[in-house]
Amino acid sequence: MRCWQQAEAVFVRAPAKLNLFLEIHARRPDGYHELETLMVRIGIYDTLCFEEEDSEESHLRLLDAGGCFPGMTNRRGDVPQGSDNLILQAVRALQQYAGVDRQVRITVWKRIPVASGLAGGSSDAAATLLGLNHLWGLQLSRAELLHLGASLGSDINFFLAETSAAVCRGRGEIIQPVVLPVGLAFVVVRPFGGLSTAAVFRQCQVPAKARSVQPLLVALREGQIHQAGRLMHNALQEPAEVLHSEISTLRKRFRALTLAGHQMTGSGTAYFGLCPDRRVAHRIAGVLRAERRGEVFATQSVT
Ligand code: C5P
Repeated sequence: MRCWQQAEAVFVRAPAKLNLFLEIHARRPDGYHELETLMVRIGIYDTLCFEEEDSEESHLRLLDAGGCFPGMTNRRGDVPQGSDNLILQAVRALQQYAGVDRQVRITVWKRIPVASGLAGGSSDAAATLLGLNHLWGLQLSRAELLHLGASLGSDINFFLAETSAAVCRGRGEIIQPVVLPVGLAFVVVRPFGGLSTAAVFRQCQVPAKARSVQPLLVALREGQIHQAGRLMHNALQEPAEVLHSEISTLRKRFRALTLAGHQMTGSGTAYFGLCPDRRVAHRIAGVLRAERRGEVFATQSVT
């Protein structure tokens, strides 16, 4: 994650992610699911600013990064407030772990749609751990940050690892970085309305025979984009379609487009297409935007 200092303030740019593959291996006694998932970072970002706060408590200010994308909806209203907020949970976790009695003022320019499987909340939490480690000069190691990240949520460690793509296992917190060609082109639609991750996992079934991510990794590394598109998979899509009819509407719409492959990301509701190149991604984004199916982004995988 890009982290920089300007005067007394620390800034972090927090990217979104897409799941190109997600298979469920088992339901665990703790209620979580054992996964194998391929995540890639994409060029849709929240920006976070961290400044010392002199008062007794930390403050969080959320701003809509308005005007960045046509059709962009209100972000602030969708973000959980108070103790449910992952950014504030990350602040408290770091204060307790490092024994710090300092407070922070955080401003977030929100661009990543909420409750959409793009992991905006998790990325913001990872950015908070990195930003405060810098602002407060804590010098916590990557291993310590990963330990804190895993305690806060399953997707956070992907953003703490210095990698643009990774196969994530366990409940998602065990990260194996992978090298893929950069600049994979995507078109992403976030329909109106989001889904709760827990609700989607409650609906899912453990398959009798799990699929492996390996053939997809080979296709992506060899640049066989159409083969990669055929090998993409998301075991959470079927249960999500039961909960949100717009996802199956998007699946049918994407089938008629010239894409290498398409599916939902994470636990939804955002749906994406893998495109042969950036030009195609921008052209299809224009078509879908005109159809007013939600927020539409043409983007690519980033480092
Ligand atoms: O870890 P995180 O807080 O993001 O997970 C949200 C919810 O999603 C969990 O409470 C759990 O119900 C579900 N989940 C799951 N298996 C995973 C990850 C999440 O069942 N591997």
